[in-house]
Amino acid sequence: MRWDLVQALALVQLASAGPVKTRDTVTAQVNFNNNTGTPQHLASGLLYGVPDTLNQIPAHFYQNIGYNYERAGGAQVAAPGRGWIWGLTEYKNRFKSALSNYQTAREYDATFIFLIHDLWGADGTQNSSAPYPGDNGDWTSWDEYLTQLFSDIKANSMTTGLVIDIWNEPDLTAFWNRDQSQYLEMWGRTYYKFRAEFGTAVELSGPASAGEPVASNTWWQAWASFVASNQSIPDQYAWHMEGGGGDLLSAQAGLNYWRSTYNLPSKLININEYGVYDEQVPAGSAWWIGQLERINARGLRGNWLSGTNLHDYMASLLGKSGSTYYPNGDYQVYKYYYQNMTGYRVGTLPSSDLKLEAYATVGSDYARVLVGVRVATGTWELELNSLSSLGLPTSGTLNVHTWGFPVASDVHYGEVDAPTDLGWYGHAYSGDTVTFPVYQTDEVTAYVFEFAI
Ligand SMILES: *[C@@H]1O[C@H](CO)[C@@H](O)[C@H](O)[C@H]1NC(C)=O
Ligand SMILES: *[C@@H]1O[C@H](CO)[C@@H](O)[C@H](O)[C@H]1NC(C)=O
Ligand SMILES: *[C@@H]1O[C@H](CO)[C@@H](O)[C@H](O)[C@H]1NC(C)=O
Ligand SMILES: *[C@@H]1O[C@H](CO)[C@@H](O)[C@H](O)[C@H]1NC(C)=O
Repeated sequence: MRWDLVQALALVQLASAGPVKTRDTVTAQVNFNNNTGTPQHLASGLLYGVPDTLNQIPAHFYQNIGYNYERAGGAQVAAPGRGWIWGLTEYKNRFKSALSNYQTAREYDATFIFLIHDLWGADGTQNSSAPYPGDNGDWTSWDEYLTQLFSDIKANSMTTGLVIDIWNEPDLTAFWNRDQSQYLEMWGRTYYKFRAEFGTAVELSGPASAGEPVASNTWWQAWASFVASNQSIPDQYAWHMEGGGGDLLSAQAGLNYWRSTYNLPSKLININEYGVYDEQVPAGSAWWIGQLERINARGLRGNWLSGTNLHDYMASLLGKSGSTYYPNGDYQVYKYYYQNMTGYRVGTLPSSDLKLEAYATVGSDYARVLVGVRVATGTWELELNSLSSLGLPTSGTLNVHTWGFPVASDVHYGEVDAPTDLGWYGHAYSGDTVTFPVYQTDEVTAYVFEFAI
């Protein structure tokens, strides 16, 4: 949620896009003999994006993408709804927003991650004299806040499908303008208070850092060391992938490094903010789907809107004309991912330059490969291996059906109602493998390749 910074980065990246380059030795792979289990459309979560008025966005928009994770807590609700640090009334109004988003999530069986730092009031709009939990060693206000929150969670029957995010992006001064030791004490106290109140019925998640858990990240070292010695290990390891250009295989290797250093157990990984704004296009979303599915991480789309728009548009998957919603190009990727990529998943590898990603499934009738580049143009190769494991001959001609997933002229909010049928093409192959080019002449279009099995 660092919109200004990211807008600036997006402009730099667009400006530096060169002519189409051939990268014909750079190949992404799909290995059809590697069954990696049932699709759960792990990337179909949203950060905010849900209106505070119930049913404002028609149900089919959530249903058709298999919406399954939500993360909210009343951020940027205006006065008199600025949260606990402005008094009980402002807390209550902000809580109402969180509750209504929780109810929307539960209507679709989505898990809800409660952003309790937002309900406190540290949503990035707080002024420089805003208080933080434990200031000057005084925990009274934080303790009272948690008592009020526990009571409201119970009174509103919110414990089902609930995950608590202990604090968002505590490694950024925009959200935690105090030192890390005060944060860690807050973590330890809050973890044990939630456990004492709810046991393991309510999951705990964190640290939801802006930085990735790579081995050079000293903030992560202090966090991992503290939760190990404090025995306050969350149920989900969470961090964000927004900016810095990092990838999930490296980030996961970093997490594994800290886990082995401090003997921390394996837990679900939740990238509960993924994708910068210029990656929130069909190609970028397909890229992130490939990344998340490979490491079995849950993913929630980042949200680059603010104010009331933050609580709308399903994190930039919809546009609106008056009060009528319509899907954008990016939405069509999530719809296909949920509705069409059924059966079982198979292992894939990104291109060695990490620009082209693939996610693939094998259904009863078709194998399907979704590919996307990470905001780049050029030509990459896609290699489909072990075709015989699908019952196909080891050589011959593979007839491939291509779908394009474009955007409208308004990249983020223009209407796109369906992918574009780009027809069939027969690729000759031998050696149980077929390789063909992916021509990426723009930075936004994702592609799907389907073939009958
Ligand atoms: C700053 O925010 C706090 C609440 O966090 C509020 O009590 C205080 O009045 C605000 N100060 C100014 C100058 O707006
Ligand atoms: C964990 O840390 C908190 C905050 O410092 C502390 O109150 C608590 O006693 C610690 N618990 C353990 C088991 O170390
Ligand atoms: C995806 O599946 C749905 C539901 O079975 C079907 O109506 C639709 O035509 C399929 N879309 C594509 C692009 O194949
Ligand atoms: C299968 O794919 C998964 C996910 O990409 C990967 O972790 C695993 O190493 C692959 N297994 C083999 C045998 O290639």
